[in-house]
Amino acid sequence: MDPDGSTKIVLDQLPKGSFFENLDLVQRDGFWYRPRHLEAAIACYSWFDARDDDVILASSMKTGSNWLKALCFSIMQRHCGGDVGAKNEDLLARHHPSFHVRTLEVRVYTENPPPDLSGMQSPRLFHTHLPYSALPESIKKSKCKMVYITRNPKDTFVSMWHFFNTRRTPEQGSYPLEDAFESFCNGVFHFGPFFDHVLQYWNQSLKMPHKILFLKYEDLRRNPKDQVKRLASFLGKPFADEEEVEELIRNCSLERLKNLEVNKKGVDPWIDMPYSAYFRKGVVGDWENVLTPEMSQRLDQITSMKLEGSGLDL
Ligand code: A3P
Repeated sequence: MDPDGSTKIVLDQLPKGSFFENLDLVQRDGFWYRPRHLEAAIACYSWFDARDDDVILASSMKTGSNWLKALCFSIMQRHCGGDVGAKNEDLLARHHPSFHVRTLEVRVYTENPPPDLSGMQSPRLFHTHLPYSALPESIKKSKCKMVYITRNPKDTFVSMWHFFNTRRTPEQGSYPLEDAFESFCNGVFHFGPFFDHVLQYWNQSLKMPHKILFLKYEDLRRNPKDQVKRLASFLGKPFADEEEVEELIRNCSLERLKNLEVNKKGVDPWIDMPYSAYFRKGVVGDWENVLTPEMSQRLDQITSMKLEGSGLDL
């Protein structure tokens, strides 16, 4: 995306890989990207100017990103209005969460020249799948807050397999589970490897707990009230009463979002996927219905090896 086209040259020289049969990937600094996402990430690195009151959500794919978007958007909307949205308007019923909280390298920095975000009213809310190491310096140096969400790797993989299968025709059937699993274990998928991604944010959140809140999908599922209160307090927007938090959780629930017309019928224009593909079962431990005992054991081994000594349990 550089004006002189130098990004193109860099892309051509990077190691290549693929996920599913036709999702081409390139590797840079240890992480795998779709080429257009990497181009956008490079533009984002050069141009994004974080403000101290920005909020940046981050996640690996299929770990509950859209749930986090819906929750944070609703928490901010209660207090702010403005660009985040007028108070009391049911904006989640109008658009998919990814419309309200745009992903920097998928929906913001996709044009050349890059968009001018300076006119956006504060506080701004963005999302990214980028690893911590690839974030623009201004995000790291400013006082902006970040919220990272992660999930059990087996459920993450199974969610991802289902998600990309929705792109396939009935004639094609599902992509071979074994092949997708192999790619996941090797870290070769969008923004992978999973464990490097998680550990970067985990370690930064330990160093800077005031800046990065680290959440787990399973904790949110098991105890949404405490986790959402924690999230709102971290964002400096605590709830006035229990009723308010319960209502917000209901409004952002999978059951509700899944059944909204906009999410049942709409199509994500950025990656040509039906919005319905983003809302599936949301069941903790759903991997048991898909993975073989050998696959489960292998991923458990990788997980304990990668997370050993980190203090993180997934
Ligand atoms: P499953 O495929 O296991 O159902 P992402 O938003 O990062 O793409 O993650 C998608 C996963 O989050 C899917 O998991 C999806 O069903 C689940 N999800 C989406 N919205 C949710 C919500 N409001 N509450 C809980 N889970 C949600």
